[in-house]
Amino acid sequence: MSLLKVLFVLVTIAAACAGVCNGGVTSSFVRKSQPSTCMPIDTFPPPPGYNAPEQVHITQGDHDGKSMIISWVTPLEREPNYVIFWEANSKNKHKIHSRITSYRYYTYESGYIHHATIKGLKHDTLYNYQLGTGDAVRRFSFTTPPKVGPDVPYTFGDLGQTYDSNETFEHYYSNPKGQAVLFAGDLSYADDHPYHNNNRWDSWGRFVEKSMAYQPWIWTVGNHEIDFAPELGENVPFKPYMHRYRVPYKASKSTSPLWYSIKRASAYIILLSSYSAYGKYTPQYNWLEQELPKVNRAETPWLIVLLHSPWYNSNNYHYMEGESMRVMFESWFVEHKVDIVFAGHVHSYERTDRFSNVRYNITNELSTPVKDPSAPVYITIGDGGNQEGLANNFSEPQPSYSAFREASYGHGMLDIKNRTHAHFTWHRNHDNEPVAADSHWMLNRYWHPEEENN
Ligand SMILES: [Fe+2]
Repeated sequence: MSLLKVLFVLVTIAAACAGVCNGGVTSSFVRKSQPSTCMPIDTFPPPPGYNAPEQVHITQGDHDGKSMIISWVTPLEREPNYVIFWEANSKNKHKIHSRITSYRYYTYESGYIHHATIKGLKHDTLYNYQLGTGDAVRRFSFTTPPKVGPDVPYTFGDLGQTYDSNETFEHYYSNPKGQAVLFAGDLSYADDHPYHNNNRWDSWGRFVEKSMAYQPWIWTVGNHEIDFAPELGENVPFKPYMHRYRVPYKASKSTSPLWYSIKRASAYIILLSSYSAYGKYTPQYNWLEQELPKVNRAETPWLIVLLHSPWYNSNNYHYMEGESMRVMFESWFVEHKVDIVFAGHVHSYERTDRFSNVRYNITNELSTPVKDPSAPVYITIGDGGNQEGLANNFSEPQPSYSAFREASYGHGMLDIKNRTHAHFTWHRNHDNEPVAADSHWMLNRYWHPEEENN
């Protein structure tokens, strides 16, 4: 890291801590807090050409990064139903056919939703791919991750909910460092529109395509993916999401796309569902119980969990909604030394110190979180910007576990350097991209479990 960058980080921290560093910082930054307005649905029109493929998005297709799932929608006809891809430095082209699905939701009928899984890719390699034919040909590219290993540097963008506003998305998009996105749930917010207007799923897919078609977004589900509306005759939870977004859940022996894991570079990433059963004996509980001991920190030092509803949230908005899941799983996270937990849902930013609350047994009154070097740092990054507006109602006084909190929209960047150090920064939308409103050096809990004196 350059001296200039070190100085910048120090200056940022000093500024954040000025006068209030004894128990956590509630940022004094104030932005206008009126709800964002929703953009017209035709802000992102379909691409030109007959039956042109649209809403192109990619995600990792296996457990260790040698496969990619390419997804797109053709609005009028099932064909062309294939993707052509090739290494950027080769003329040797390959063709993979898609599996096609479609669905009805109330009066809405989807286009043809294609999912094609490309397997056997080389690591750390630039690939081009092409969809469509005739006047509707579209070309994109992606770079595969490096081979999984303990000291492989990698930079994840960390985003909470987005919606059809440009701000957070464009801010992240302007950062050239992000290689993949860890997304903490709440995608299109179609369910906030009359009859869960599923055309909003389509417009959202067009809106985010310019990032999602080029780098994998790793999905977690939020409450806005449930789309459970028995009053409309829609009784199958997660129906639009499950048709549109595919994940490689079988590669981690999961029985549901709603919880799974992947390895990428030096990180082992576990994605959980806050809105699926997680009590004892349930599929998600049983899967996680067997999954955590499988993580080999000699291969993937960084153990990261994503879930939607935060366990440590000192905002009055959605307060305690994550509590029941914390009761079930927190002791496992401490036992297995999870490094970081990213959550969404709350429309503000918060980072905790390493605290746990696993002693409480309902009669011993030990219900206050305590410092715990084996506990994760919890980061609530659900501040992507949405039409519900900011959550600027923090509880006072700031709890001891809460290190920094601010009611602004923004995104995070997790820059993994090696097996011991990772640098996390949070970027509020109102600043230029290089400015970090919060900055934290993470020390790996397995390889370097020292206290983080940020
Ligand atoms: Fe949410």
